[in-house]
Amino acid sequence: MNTLPLVISVTSGKGGVGKTNLSVNLACCLALAGKRVVLLDADLGLANVDVLLGLTPPLNLFHLFHEGAALSDILFDTPHGFRILPASSGMSEMLTLSTGQKLELLEAVDELEETLDFLIVDTGAGIHDNVVYFNLAAQERMPHALEWWRRFRQSRKRKRRETRDNMKDKLKDGHGGESEKGRAA
Ligand SMILES: Nc1ncnc2c1ncn2[C@@H]1O[C@H](COP(=O)(O)OP(=O)(O)OP(=O)(O)O)[C@@H](O)[C@H]1O
Ligand SMILES: [Mg+2]
Repeated sequence: MNTLPLVISVTSGKGGVGKTNLSVNLACCLALAGKRVVLLDADLGLANVDVLLGLTPPLNLFHLFHEGAALSDILFDTPHGFRILPASSGMSEMLTLSTGQKLELLEAVDELEETLDFLIVDTGAGIHDNVVYFNLAAQERMPHALEWWRRFRQSRKRKRRETRDNMKDKLKDGHGGESEKGRAA
């Protein structure tokens, strides 16, 4: 039986599109369905999973990298049935983690694998090294610009329809014929 957790990163090039909200809601839904979930706040520079949940964990990933805390000290139970690995906000040191340090984090998370069904990774926005790293480490990536994509497709459909209607009108009015004549002349 495969006991490895599924790692899902929630990501987007753009900021403020709802990644953290989606990550938290996904973690809540999976926990409600009886799954064992950890939500990793991988927005290492401007973490806010804890803020969204209204929680104030005493330790976070900053303490793992800079103050020798263990991952088990940082794991924080939420009242929603899942655990979080909170990060710090406003600590620029967290933006310049070496690949070795990020690997250390993933190795520490690997040790949780037997206690987990899902690891949700809320990434920061953009294409910073940290974002790319966590996306490469995940098995599933959930690009979070779905609303933008839906609107984009709708607007393209509308434009195509308008262009088609304009063409039809022009052909009806005989403008199409005139332009053909114009071209021939
Ligand atoms: N489904 C939604 N419908 C309406 N508003 C939403 C939705 N999801 C998020 N928001 C609002 O959008 C804003 C940004 O949400 P969120 O912090 O989840 O985005 P983010 O992509 O994680 O941002 P960042 O890139 O800064 O990490 C918040 O004010 C939030 O309340
Ligand atoms: Mg966010």
